[in-house]
Amino acid sequence: MSQRSILVTSALPNANGSIHLGHLLEHVQTDIWVRFQRLRGNRCTYVCADDTHGTAIMLRADELGVTPEDLIRDIKAEHEADFQDFLISHDNYYSTHSPENERYSKLIYERLRDQGQIAVRSVDQLYDPEQEMFLADRYIVGACPRCKTEGQYGDNCEACGATYDATDLINPRSVFSGAAPELRQSDHYFFTLSNFTDFLKEWTTSGTLQPQVANKLGEWLGEGLQDWDISRDAPYFGFEIPDAPGKYFYVWLDAPIGYMASFRHYCDRQGDIDFDAYWNADSEHEVHHFIGKDIVNFHALFWPAMLSCAGYRSPTQVHAHGFITVNGLKMSKSRGTFINARTYLDHLGPEYLRYYFAAKLNGSVDDIDINLEDFVLRVNSDLVGKVVNIASRCAGFINRGFGGELGDSVEMGLCEQLSAPAEAIAELFESGEYGKAVREIMALADLANQYINDEKPWELNKQEGQQARVQEVCATGLNLFRTLMIYLTPIIPELARQSEAFLNLPPQQWSDTQTPLTNHTINAFKPLLKRVEEATIEQLIAASAQPGADAAVTDEASVAQSDLDPIAETIDYDDFAKVDLRIARIVDAAHVEGADKLLQLTVDIGGEQRNIFAGIKSAYDPESLKGRLTVVVANLAPRKMHFGTSEGMMLAAGPGGGDLWLLSPDSGATPGLRVT
Ligand code: MSP
Ligand code: ZN
Repeated sequence: MSQRSILVTSALPNANGSIHLGHLLEHVQTDIWVRFQRLRGNRCTYVCADDTHGTAIMLRADELGVTPEDLIRDIKAEHEADFQDFLISHDNYYSTHSPENERYSKLIYERLRDQGQIAVRSVDQLYDPEQEMFLADRYIVGACPRCKTEGQYGDNCEACGATYDATDLINPRSVFSGAAPELRQSDHYFFTLSNFTDFLKEWTTSGTLQPQVANKLGEWLGEGLQDWDISRDAPYFGFEIPDAPGKYFYVWLDAPIGYMASFRHYCDRQGDIDFDAYWNADSEHEVHHFIGKDIVNFHALFWPAMLSCAGYRSPTQVHAHGFITVNGLKMSKSRGTFINARTYLDHLGPEYLRYYFAAKLNGSVDDIDINLEDFVLRVNSDLVGKVVNIASRCAGFINRGFGGELGDSVEMGLCEQLSAPAEAIAELFESGEYGKAVREIMALADLANQYINDEKPWELNKQEGQQARVQEVCATGLNLFRTLMIYLTPIIPELARQSEAFLNLPPQQWSDTQTPLTNHTINAFKPLLKRVEEATIEQLIAASAQPGADAAVTDEASVAQSDLDPIAETIDYDDFAKVDLRIARIVDAAHVEGADKLLQLTVDIGGEQRNIFAGIKSAYDPESLKGRLTVVVANLAPRKMHFGTSEGMMLAAGPGGGDLWLLSPDSGATPGLRVT
């Protein structure tokens, strides 16, 4: 097969937060594909960048009292180190705040404009007169026009689920200044996306997308596309629109162009790779984007339409993945499952997670559940127990008995059994079915271990005249190990490199699986991989846990609308009046020996202290509770429990486990006040 030239990207991480498990899933998925292509002998270039523009980053920098440039420089350094330590083989990691990106953003915009595909329209928008800026919906709060709940954002109500325009909120206020926003008019620039409907109908159904994704987009295309607002008014951290002073490109206009810009920057430094050959309209090279399912519309509608309108090629394929859940639930800071790349690396090596992600990926957009018990079992039994074990069972006999010589004879039948599926396994990597590839490879590892179990070189080694047989069995075992390691190279590249060093081999290619090693001298065997201990996972979770944190973050609000309980049937006022709710101060909080959910609390309910056992251990560190005010049920009959008597009940909201929030009164309330 002839060599393919492939450009690959992962979505550009936002420059206002740390790399976490979700980003890693994407970069590991991409990196496996990239390394696989290189192992097959294709030219594969992998670029990425930080996505640096927009209001959120501008405001974050403000908050920290630094310039946006300072903020994005520091974050980029952190992101790069994280990816490097996860063995992500980017050829270039750049920034959207770059001269190349400014140049291509302006160029593409001008081409769209010159094609008559930019429309300018006046738009009514809320404006903060104190902060002197237009407000996006999420920066406006007020009461829901339907259910009247206070504190709702400008696009939808978290209490009743209503969606509305920010201008419909009752008593709207800016989250920055608290000022009442004014309605102002401003010219916005639109890309006339609807003119590309036919092009997109064709493009989205020509093998560029997974079927699930193509179907979804087909629905949207059927309903009709809206023109896309690509401008934002100053102040905005981004690129100014060439012919429109005070107007900036919306971050999502220049973000995908950041892929081109990073590649351009790479080409200019590299010398032997031709930018135009990849991006010209008639390019025969391939461009592949790996993204999460949440950003499909940007990559499979806006982006190909922009490219084609500007005279560039459109992507060969967009590979979308689902979202990560941990133990069946959304990642949560309070539960300790919102795990950052660096926190993970402080506890465990990158290849365990790379392997586990690979075992879970199947090329669809279904969400991917990380089960931490399963993670430990899986990596220990597969990587340590099956694969590495083959080498450690055979190496000693060859090194001690034969000076590291493999000899001239191996069991060809068995070697061929492992090399024959090479093309079928390659097809699984190509199509993103890494989980199936892993299962296939582990089934082959089972064959290899079975062979060693049957031949028992440790017994042969004690028998007269069996030396040649010992050498043949162990040389066969090491050949099988080598083949398995070549298959696994895209997933566990560092382990593969160490195996090559042990086997005394240059970097292997996929095709090397077809030629067994004989008359070859290996090096001494050093243990390649340690087992993962359960305790390490517990430490990782503990290090990630930030009690109560989820309540404060809006971008990953952990209680989705669909998780809310429906309101139960009504009760009479008299029923309610029976419940004696009191403001209480937590004076002491402690772990309960032997209890895995409970904390023991001493609360002051106004001159009287109560002992209460509460199932809030996963959500709160006892130290953090001491001194705070909350609300308790004061007239609940005392309940004898295994650990002692509980004299009241704490009130908390949330589904349980790590997702619980104790109630707090406004400041000024004192212990003992009755809640009515
Ligand atoms: N900056 C945009 C992408 C611009 S691409 C031209 C963005 N950034 S992001 O940091 O929010 O997300 C980057 C990628 O990580 C996206 O593909 C997103 O889907 C993915 N993930 C972020 N959280 C995730 C999970 N919890 N699970 C899996 N992937 C998710 O979007
Ligand atoms: Zn509402």
